[in-house]
Amino acid sequence: MRRPYHPTYALRPTSNALPKTAPTYVPYRLDGGLYYLTKPKGDIVFMSAWSLALARIIHVVGIVFWIGGVAFVTTIVIPALRRLPSGEERLRLFEAIEGRFSVQARVVTLATGIAGIYMVQGLDAWGRYLDLSFWWFHLMTIVWLVFTLVLFVLEPLFLNRWFKSFAERDSDRAFRLLHRFHVLLLTVSLIAIAGAVAGVRGFLRFG
Ligand code: HEM
Repeated sequence: MRRPYHPTYALRPTSNALPKTAPTYVPYRLDGGLYYLTKPKGDIVFMSAWSLALARIIHVVGIVFWIGGVAFVTTIVIPALRRLPSGEERLRLFEAIEGRFSVQARVVTLATGIAGIYMVQGLDAWGRYLDLSFWWFHLMTIVWLVFTLVLFVLEPLFLNRWFKSFAERDSDRAFRLLHRFHVLLLTVSLIAIAGAVAGVRGFLRFG
């Protein structure tokens, strides 16, 4: 089928010429502040450049606050607490710090998720969930789901109470387990961030 004339077509390579590593959706800034996102099929998705940029800013700033906070708790707070001689003091300080952080983490997780879903819709990128070569896309979403589950469901339901009673029984073991869990979450989150930053630019796409 012949494509209707549009300036975007003059700017982009033909679908067959798209290199394998290129992102599926190629943004072009044209007049009037609109992004024309071209798909290999030839359809065009119109999206305000500003709304997409704003969503990306909220997404990334949120992640800085959130995963930055997780990094601080994992590498500074928990190791410092583990060095305290008194188990009681350790638990009291941990509850004071983690309590404040978990409120912030809940707000930021929500904002990051909403901005992310807005971008998926705006970029019409739902199909990436069916394509394993976008592994960073899946990983990003899994990290979000795990944190959401922990912060909004498991902690209020039983995790906080369970940890408190565990720490009262055996403080050293409880804080060792807590540290390991934080190291695991931080490592997976950092891999997701590295994968996303490279993946958005067309790198690290396997398969
Ligand atoms: C519901 C969960 C999430 C959704 C729906 C989502 C969605 C998105 C989308 C659509 C993009 C833009 C992709 C593109 O431009 O091709 C993006 C970028 C990104 N996301 Fe997420 N995301 C989510 C969670 C996360 C989490 C938990 C992290 C961090 C661990 C994260 C880190 C990033 C980073 C670093 C970028 C790249 C920003 C850039 O360099 O432009 N996302 N995300």
